[in-house]
Amino acid sequence: MQRLALLLLCAAAPVWATLPERLSQTGLGEAQVRAFEPRFALWSDGATKRRWIALPPGAQVDASQPDAWRFPVGTRLWKEFSVDGQPVETRHFVLVADGRWEFASYVWNGADAVKAPARGQVLTLPGGRRYDVPSVGDCMACHAGARSPVLGFAALQLGPAVPALLRDGLLKNAPGAWATQAPDFIAAGAPEQAARGYLHANCGHCHFQGGVPVPLRLALDVGQPPAAVDAAAVLRRAGTRNPYQQMPPLGTREVDATGLALLAHHFNKPENRP
Ligand code: HEC
Ligand code: HEC
Repeated sequence: MQRLALLLLCAAAPVWATLPERLSQTGLGEAQVRAFEPRFALWSDGATKRRWIALPPGAQVDASQPDAWRFPVGTRLWKEFSVDGQPVETRHFVLVADGRWEFASYVWNGADAVKAPARGQVLTLPGGRRYDVPSVGDCMACHAGARSPVLGFAALQLGPAVPALLRDGLLKNAPGAWATQAPDFIAAGAPEQAARGYLHANCGHCHFQGGVPVPLRLALDVGQPPAAVDAAAVLRRAGTRNPYQQMPPLGTREVDATGLALLAHHFNKPENRP
């Protein structure tokens, strides 16, 4: 009797799709997989990255909220990290049938990559350098609470690539103007564009209206100028890796000297100080 109850329970339970053990089983080689590149990258301690998306056949991304695209069930995304030309890990997430996103990272070992433990993993690279594979909790800290869990395949990050996505039928309910004019935010010139784009990519997934409970808003919105920020605080927190102070709080051990210079170049001008 007890066994029967258990069987019935199992049959009624939702299907918990669990990501496969090996990267080669995730479908990265399939025909509908499409490469993309955000305009502004997340600093990952100097690693180089490649990214891909696959939508289920015929499915479209709903762009009716320009800053929070909604993705069809079955959407898969990948991001490969390489150090010194060698792939180290490939991160992967999928929107499964019950509306949850599942996250995993795959660590390269020869010709394939194997799923890392959910608690994350510290690797030692050739030459002795330490490399952190994030935990699933870390993936969620950046992705799950954001306006859309997909951070780089988004209107402002794809910018000039958006009209082509529309032509190829990947988007629905997008503002009509995007067919000819790429979505963008308002910036006064190239230095502001670069500095604000950097903050959007590296900080905006936590620092948005309704995100972390501090007033600092670093996420950009389509068609809008950036919010005023406390530039001294931004430069101080982005320029340290003291674990109690550093920003972002996770995912990096080294200061991004180039990124910091870009921020300083823009914000240290007297006219840009709030
Ligand atoms: C520190 C914050 C942070 C952490 C931690 C993090 N990501 Fe991301 N991830 C980002 C940002 C920001 C982007 C978009 C910018 C870029 O790709 O450079 C991104 C992009 C991606 C992409 C490409 C699709 C997209 O959203 O544009 C995948 C796939 C991905 N991450 C998977 C993961 C997985 C899996 C984990 C955990 C093992 C993880 N990420 C941990 C911030 C993070
Ligand atoms: C994973 C989420 C996350 C990311 C990404 C992130 N922050 Fe934060 N930030 C927080 C949290 C949580 C706090 C509040 C706790 C604290 O002050 O440490 C905070 C606080 C701050 C503060 C202090 C604000 C105040 O009013 O006290 C500054 C400045 C800041 N962040 C700047 C940045 C910058 C610049 C970046 C990108 C380079 C960034 N943050 C990226 C989560 C994040």
